[in-house]
Amino acid sequence: MPYEILEKIQLGDSGTIFEMVLKTPLIAKKAYAGNFILVRVNETGERIPLTIADYDREKGTVTLVIQVVGKSTKLLCNLKVGDKVLDVVGPLGNRIHIDKYEHPVVIIGGGIGIAPCYPQSKELREAGNKIITILGARSKGLLIWKDRIKSVSDELIITTDDGSEGRKGVVTDPLKEIIKEKEISLVIAIGPLIMMKYVVLTTNGSGSLPKVKTYVSLNTIMIDGTGMCGCCRFLTLDGGVQFACVDGPDVDGHIVDFDNLLKRADRFLEQEKYSLECYDEECRALEKYKSEVD
Ligand SMILES: Cc1cc2nc3c(=O)[nH]c(=O)nc-3n(C[C@H](O)[C@H](O)[C@H](O)COP(=O)(O)OP(=O)(O)OC[C@H]3O[C@@H](n4cnc5c(N)ncnc54)[C@H](O)[C@@H]3O)c2cc1C
Ligand code: FES
Repeated sequence: MPYEILEKIQLGDSGTIFEMVLKTPLIAKKAYAGNFILVRVNETGERIPLTIADYDREKGTVTLVIQVVGKSTKLLCNLKVGDKVLDVVGPLGNRIHIDKYEHPVVIIGGGIGIAPCYPQSKELREAGNKIITILGARSKGLLIWKDRIKSVSDELIITTDDGSEGRKGVVTDPLKEIIKEKEISLVIAIGPLIMMKYVVLTTNGSGSLPKVKTYVSLNTIMIDGTGMCGCCRFLTLDGGVQFACVDGPDVDGHIVDFDNLLKRADRFLEQEKYSLECYDEECRALEKYKSEVD
């Protein structure tokens, strides 16, 4: 059953990030923070995992925030309002654990990982928690959903690598100050693997700072999203194996072997590059054909 795109807007000024609202009543009915869906645009398309960044049970919609990085994300983001994607599977993955914590919760979003912070922050705040959010991006134009995140945060800190907005630096700079100054019950980090690795190194109690329980959201490569293919497996520091799609995607960051994950993250780089080049070539040929016919 095809799923209609009801809204599409560009976010930031990079031209690579889009917000899309999809009509998916059954998924919207069961969605919670932490869940993701698998989207396949057309019959020859691959299934790509995308986080449910927001949901509206009454309207029967889910909101996605997508960054164009390769063929499938480009194919999806080339669609317009009114177009349909062929299939959507979900909600998949575990809902985040919701508790009322004694001390504030720090939620950290980096790059495209900022959007998934929204439902987590919203649900944890509704449970009575104080939320301190730290958002980080390379520069101002890549900072997305600032107002939305602000609406579900008690305190919002922004960092950019180049200092074009907020503090110049990285998300771990304010994090270090916060956990040194006050007690924090939980840290949640969503963003690039390298960012999550350094958040975990900050909170694992190995240096002078106290240990703080930390969840990270693993964006490993996925195929089936149901624990069968093994593609999303990651190693734990005690030598165990877990699957991001069914054991996560939000998992205890202190058990993740990030060095192994980082090594495996670009194992299909050549194929991904080739696939994007072929798609771009196809698009150019189609444009040329259209202009000749016109
Ligand atoms: C649970 C989960 C939730 C996700 N949520 C979102 C989301 O809300 N929005 C969003 O834009 N992306 C999200 N991703 C990442 C997204 O699935 C990938 O960017 C997408 O599959 C890439 O497909 P592609 O064909 O466009 O690029 P590919 O050709 O497959 O890859 C191009 C390049 O993108 C990078 N890349 C590929 N796959 C991933 C990945 N899984 N994680 C990080 N980088 C990757 C690599 O550098 C790769 O070389 C999520 C991933 C997971 C596992
Ligand atoms: S994506 Fe196949 S096991 Fe997780």
